[in-house]
Amino acid sequence: MIIDYKEVNDLDRYKIMSDTVVPRPIAWIVTEDEGVINAAPFSYFIPLSSNPATLVVSIGQKEAGIPKDSLHNILKHKKATICFVNESNVEQVKLCANMLDKEESEIEKYEIEVQRPLEDFPPMISSTQTAMFCEFYQKIDIPGNTTPIILEVKKQYIEDGRLDAKSHVHVENIGRCGAFFKAVVDL
Ligand SMILES: Cc1cc2nc3c(=O)[nH]c(=O)nc-3n(C[C@H](O)[C@H](O)[C@H](O)COP(=O)(O)O)c2cc1C
Repeated sequence: MIIDYKEVNDLDRYKIMSDTVVPRPIAWIVTEDEGVINAAPFSYFIPLSSNPATLVVSIGQKEAGIPKDSLHNILKHKKATICFVNESNVEQVKLCANMLDKEESEIEKYEIEVQRPLEDFPPMISSTQTAMFCEFYQKIDIPGNTTPIILEVKKQYIEDGRLDAKSHVHVENIGRCGAFFKAVVDL
């Protein structure tokens, strides 16, 4: 069958796309505003280029005209720390998808341990095997209520023992397939 996207409603189109473009990496994005540390997962997320080192993440709205806290914080402070999901923290990332008031921190509410290796970036989630410290690069204007944001990676944390002599990184990230979380397997 051929699906004509203009004949499909927004929710069904979302389901069809996110069940099809799989597996997707999950950016577990940490941002800050007025002393509140925010953390939320995003899987409309992909690397764009290695020079400059850029990634794109598409972030929606809380309600009409009100951006999600992560988007608000990135546009205001121009900084984001991208962490990654593994078996040890997958339950925490699910909790971080809950919509909280802007003044409430997922990190505090769900007692997620963070550390701040770099003073000028938001903290990283301690259980991540790697984290990318990013600056806002560009916003892409498209119609609708989702905003794609390009981030430039400035620095990266890699847990000891995960970077080999040939610059390959060995992490056990979990990705998103439709509504499910799936681990990467070797074939
Ligand atoms: C695995 C996963 C992937 C998600 N991907 C996205 C996404 O790409 N874009 C988006 O706007 N929301 C996405 N969400 C929903 C957000 O995580 C959720 O709306 C969250 O409450 C936003 O938090 P914030 O307001 O603190 O930014 C995803 C949720 C999960 C569990």
